Amino acid sequence: MKTLEKYKPIGIFDSGIGGLTVVKNIFSTLSNESIVYFGDTARLPYGTKSNFTVIEYSTQAARFLINRDVKIIVVACNTASSVALTVLQNNFNVPIIGMIEAGSKKALERTKSGKIGIIGTNATINNKAYSKEILNLDKDVQVFEKACPLFVSLAEEGWLEHKATYLIAEEYLKELRDKKIDTLVLGCTHYPVLSKVIQKVIGDDVELIDSGSAASFFVEKYLEDNNLKNDTGNEGTYEYYVSDISTNFKVIAERFLAREINELKKIDLDILTKLQ
Ligand code: DGL
Repeated sequence: MKTLEKYKPIGIFDSGIGGLTVVKNIFSTLSNESIVYFGDTARLPYGTKSNFTVIEYSTQAARFLINRDVKIIVVACNTASSVALTVLQNNFNVPIIGMIEAGSKKALERTKSGKIGIIGTNATINNKAYSKEILNLDKDVQVFEKACPLFVSLAEEGWLEHKATYLIAEEYLKELRDKKIDTLVLGCTHYPVLSKVIQKVIGDDVELIDSGSAASFFVEKYLEDNNLKNDTGNEGTYEYYVSDISTNFKVIAERFLAREINELKKIDLDILTKLQ
């Protein structure tokens, strides 16, 4: 029997643990929804790769999720959203939601001074994904961007409050502190894992915007508006796939999600790259 569209799972992908910041939000706002998660841990980080490679990896990740029969795909990676979202939307038939629009709108809603900081990977910052989106929505604000590539490794390593993380954050964020921003977009889904350190270093007077949490509201609205919300009343099921089972993934993921991951499944790269 054919599964009704609304009972199908939500597909979410990222290069690693970053997309779990979106999963966490979906747990709390859409607990009936089932999730298929893919973390491309064998090829992480995406943020230092060329646009060509990020598009290729993102296409394979989307194809993998479509093969798992998902009703919608959330590109829970700002790098992939900056570089590959339009290509994915043009090439696949399922609805695909990225991070940039949601994070930008939330920042504009929250800023009072009109001085917005953006931190992200090299790819996200070099492509100016956020400044283009924000200035397109409101040309009177000021946007200051800073790439913080080492944050991804620190998050994957689980150095969530390590002194090295503080030192690196000091170095990366001093420029933005000097600009007197009042809003800082965590324009990489790995960064909310480090939000304690980031908040401390940037100061309590700056509001942090989690792009993943902003995007999960977009997902909820999309499901509602398109009659795709799972209304069974049953708790959703969760499947986690990675392209390499690193020792850290399960431990950090469980710590971060505050729940157990019963089974972490590995999908081989040669299968992933040959999927039709
Ligand atoms: N979490 C991702 C992002 O939001 C990618 C990090 C990376 O792989 O460099 O940009």
